[in-house]
Amino acid sequence: MIYTLTLNPAIDRELTITEVQFDSVLPAVHSRVDVGGKGFNVSRLLWSMGTPSIALGFVGGNAGDQLSAGLQALGVATDFVAISGETRTNVSIVTERHDHYLKVNEKGPLVSEASQQVLLDKIAALAQAGDWWVLAGSVPPGVSASYYARIIKILNHRGAVCILDTTGESLRQGCEARPFLVKPNAQEVHWLTGLPVDTLDQLTVAAAVLRDLGAQNVVVSLGKEGALLHTADGTWQAQSPRIQEKNPIGAGDSMVGGMVWSLSQGHALKDALGWGIASGAATAALSGTAVGTRESIEALHQRVELKPL
Ligand SMILES: Nc1ncnc2c1ncn2[C@@H]1O[C@H](COP(=O)(O)OP(=O)(O)OP(=O)(O)O)[C@@H](O)[C@H]1O
Ligand SMILES: [Mg+2]
Repeated sequence: MIYTLTLNPAIDRELTITEVQFDSVLPAVHSRVDVGGKGFNVSRLLWSMGTPSIALGFVGGNAGDQLSAGLQALGVATDFVAISGETRTNVSIVTERHDHYLKVNEKGPLVSEASQQVLLDKIAALAQAGDWWVLAGSVPPGVSASYYARIIKILNHRGAVCILDTTGESLRQGCEARPFLVKPNAQEVHWLTGLPVDTLDQLTVAAAVLRDLGAQNVVVSLGKEGALLHTADGTWQAQSPRIQEKNPIGAGDSMVGGMVWSLSQGHALKDALGWGIASGAATAALSGTAVGTRESIEALHQRVELKPL
């Protein structure tokens, strides 16, 4: 089974207006509501590939109910820990011409120590050897940067395989717990290591620092430039096929989804990178929060170029 974990999910509400005008009441031309969460995005990509997954995380209040219903409607099974606070709502205000936007993210509800323990116990009860676990996104208020590391230790102990996609101190401490794979983008690698990440040589040096911290394998995603995979057996560069970019937000989550899908089919890590690239590109080519279809991912996969460095 594949599990995805989103600790600080959100309802994403997008309002479209004709023009930004401050200090006035503006009518919304359209509005839409989406489920927001990096682990959920991974589950959605897996669903596109025809592979089930179970989404875990903290949810609360009406927004939490809305999230559960939204994920079910998208075909994603859930096994949440209910918290007393209300799941956050993030609001985007975009112009019809797409020339301006405002995005306001709530911090998210405080998650108590007791709820954190409930989730750890749930993970310990579910974890089985050979299962795949994707841990993605930021941690909510009240949860320390060591939380992902604690989860990874539980999962490693049971022989489950962990993929971590987070940033900052959570990523650093997460690496120390020896996850199978981490997938930062170049900016996140720079924030963590303080090293330059402008050339492939610099990226390789910086990725090696994450492996020295403890991550077993590192994929650094580079947007339309593709990605770099750094492992104990070597380093590979993958070039992304050219696409007409519509919305690259969430491409990294789709990349993680494509990689875990491929790994769960028994493919080697460098082959999984090709599926990750194709999945990221397929999602970046779509507008809004849509994720790539299996058909588009398979077509793009044929055009991925992979070479050892
Ligand atoms: N414009 C693009 N053209 C082709 N491929 C793209 C494009 N944008 C993203 N991709 C693919 O998706 C992968 C992940 O994208 P990116 O590096 O932007 O992730 P990210 O910064 O983690 O994004 P997010 O956290 O918003 O999901 C890239 O490695 C690449 O293969
Ligand atoms: Mg990302």
